[in-house]
Amino acid sequence: MRILNLGSLNYDKVYHVEHFARAGETILAGEHAVFLGGKGLNQSVALARAGAEVYHAGAVGSDGGPLREQLEAAGADTRYLLQLDTASGHAVIQLAAGQNCIIVCGGANRQLTDPYIDGVLDAFGPGDLLLVQNETACVAHAMRAAKARGMQVAFNASPITDELFGYPLELADYFLINEIEGMALAGTEEKDFGAILDRLAARYKAAIILTVGAAGAYYRRGAETCHAGIFEVPVVDTTAAGDTFCGFFLAAVARGLAPADALKLASGASSLAVSREGAANSIPTWEEVQKFLAT
Ligand code: RIB
Repeated sequence: MRILNLGSLNYDKVYHVEHFARAGETILAGEHAVFLGGKGLNQSVALARAGAEVYHAGAVGSDGGPLREQLEAAGADTRYLLQLDTASGHAVIQLAAGQNCIIVCGGANRQLTDPYIDGVLDAFGPGDLLLVQNETACVAHAMRAAKARGMQVAFNASPITDELFGYPLELADYFLINEIEGMALAGTEEKDFGAILDRLAARYKAAIILTVGAAGAYYRRGAETCHAGIFEVPVVDTTAAGDTFCGFFLAAVARGLAPADALKLASGASSLAVSREGAANSIPTWEEVQKFLAT
């Protein structure tokens, strides 16, 4: 299975703070660092490090060289990546006690066009999978156009925006979501994981992969269900943990692993990612995860 990932590429400006800034408050940051990230880039890096054949579609700006180089260093194919005469996307990330708070500014990620998507998709077809998140333009069009070409579609429903509810979600074969996104999609304010899964499984034919922090991760497709716990590690930075999970889960599926094994592998990979600071740089390789699971 070839995986085409239409996804964002961002410079992550990370600020260490004692607490997240509240409305009307000015706070001082301690350390500051810039990492290579973006949900799309992180997921392509995770897919490639997990051994998948991944092609990245998207756009960087004229400052985007390091983002492209990061993808290529991880083993992702960048032949479809555009460089536009604008600024690359960036994210402002507050980091407090291992938790993060993220604002994304789309930049080049938001300047993709439907004809560009169609041109890329012309090289893919049945047996291939399109992965999308919600930080680029043209997500709904890409889902429809991929399905029209006989591809499977995986949707990481992040971030949740108003326009997301107008996407053809019924076309997705995989939904990869965290608990906050799951609650929004299911239309509930309750953190009841079983109820979220029941509602989404009744509404969509997709396999639902729901990550729920310390409570692990759930898989549900129709009546089929399984769960994996987390591994205890010191939490340094949760940025890109969900992306690592997503990339490793799909790579494991592409390798033919059963959902329960794919969940366990993805859980091990994201545990390693949270024990390191940064985004793409925190994502482990397949071999590192195997070693971690063996110990
Ligand atoms: O999921 C983490 C990512 O979200 C960060 O790398 C940031 O760029 C935003 O896209």
